Amino acid sequence: MAVNLLLGLQWGDEGKGKIVDVLTKEYDIIARFQGGPNAGHTLIFDGQKHVLHTIPSGIFHPTAMNVVGNGVVIDPIIFKKELDNLDKLSVDYKSKLLISRKAHLILPTHKLLDAASETSKGKAKIGSTLKGIGPTYMDKTGRNGMRVGDLELADWKERYDSLVEKHIKMIEFFDVQLDYNLEELEEDFLAGVEKLRELRFIDSEEYLNNAVKNDKKILAEGAQGSLLDIDFGTYPFVTSSNTTAAGACTGLGIAPNKIGDVLGIFKAYTTRVGSGPFPTELFDADGERMAKVGHEFGATTGRPRRCGWLDLVALKYAVQVNGVTELMMMKADVLSGFETIKVCTSYNYKGEQITHFPYNVEEQNVTPIYSEFAGWAEDLTEMTSDETLPKNLKDYIAFIEEEVGVPIKIVSVGPDRNQTIMR
Ligand code: GDP
Ligand code: IMO
Ligand code: MG
Repeated sequence: MAVNLLLGLQWGDEGKGKIVDVLTKEYDIIARFQGGPNAGHTLIFDGQKHVLHTIPSGIFHPTAMNVVGNGVVIDPIIFKKELDNLDKLSVDYKSKLLISRKAHLILPTHKLLDAASETSKGKAKIGSTLKGIGPTYMDKTGRNGMRVGDLELADWKERYDSLVEKHIKMIEFFDVQLDYNLEELEEDFLAGVEKLRELRFIDSEEYLNNAVKNDKKILAEGAQGSLLDIDFGTYPFVTSSNTTAAGACTGLGIAPNKIGDVLGIFKAYTTRVGSGPFPTELFDADGERMAKVGHEFGATTGRPRRCGWLDLVALKYAVQVNGVTELMMMKADVLSGFETIKVCTSYNYKGEQITHFPYNVEEQNVTPIYSEFAGWAEDLTEMTSDETLPKNLKDYIAFIEEEVGVPIKIVSVGPDRNQTIMR
């Protein structure tokens, strides 16, 4: 089958960037299908760290093509910064980075609207990355948005100006204090647009379906995670796109019967950045240890990530919604040295024991019920084969596979490309 999907199964930051980078050599094309610069995908190889926000994580491979699909929202200002970084590294992206004409543009005023909306919500804020994601997808579904293809039209600036004018009125409606200099923001935006124009704009659904016909192998790269999905996530504390498997079909124009393997990525524990419910969240020394050892700070905003034990109720839910065929367990190394490892296998939901992910997962409704495992002391970061993994980790892996009913094909034992054990 031509198109495989790679998706985060938790609240994002599972390690998608690392694994896409590891797997790119097996593919002809890497295609991002949703989200925008709210994403931060980290790749580490040859002792260097790279963080990508909009550009697919196959960009460092010498020949693979990289497509930014129609489901993605692009901020030309951030995109330019990403390209400038690639310029510094002498990465030749012009021949292998293609942009969908149907991808929507994030305007500076979308970011201001995001800020105004969050400020007006006060304590109930989503904890958005303030990259303008929500307002841009609102304009998309509200049929007001600007697309990359519009930049090829003679009157694109007039369209831009009229949308900005509307946004300014909306910002006033929020009645919050926002300091901004629109002229400066626009200057950056226009510079970003010029940089974007150096790339090839394509009808990406046509390009990708032709590639499928020609037996090219495509990996669709997801952003965020299933629990941030606009439909299936912990609404309203979610992002504004479908991060789940169906999002790859709408975000690339690929039909469901062209999808092959669905690769689901999860951390050996759980993290979340931003607001919203998180049943297995820890507020103790164990949680602090995960955060410290796992360097759990957001790759986009630098905010500390909340940490907790693995939640199998949530993981099974994500596996089901996505039709996951293979699992990849990340950051196993971070759990080395814990005497006891806990994993949530069911919830106490308003006094009743349940094993499905319910509508209300807020703290007052859900208490996690844990199984306990003996931990392992060994440092995993130098290990290269499945056989050498400690027995207690193998037991933990076998338990997850049994519970979820999907094999774990990769165990990641460090952030570097090489710290990856194939099983
Ligand atoms: P993404 O958004 O899913 O691509 O993930 P991020 O890049 O935001 O966050 C994952 C973080 O964990 C990054 O800092 C990675 O370098 C790091 N990482 C990935 N895999 C591993 C692993 O197996 N062990 C450790 N210790 N760090 C990892
Ligand atoms: P990657 O691809 C983790 C979270 C934000 C916030 C909520 C909504 O790196 O895994 P938004 O800016 O989308 O309106 O924010 O979603 N969020 C992420 N958390 N990883 C991400 O992406 C995220 N993208 C958005 O923190 O809680
Ligand atoms: Mg990330």
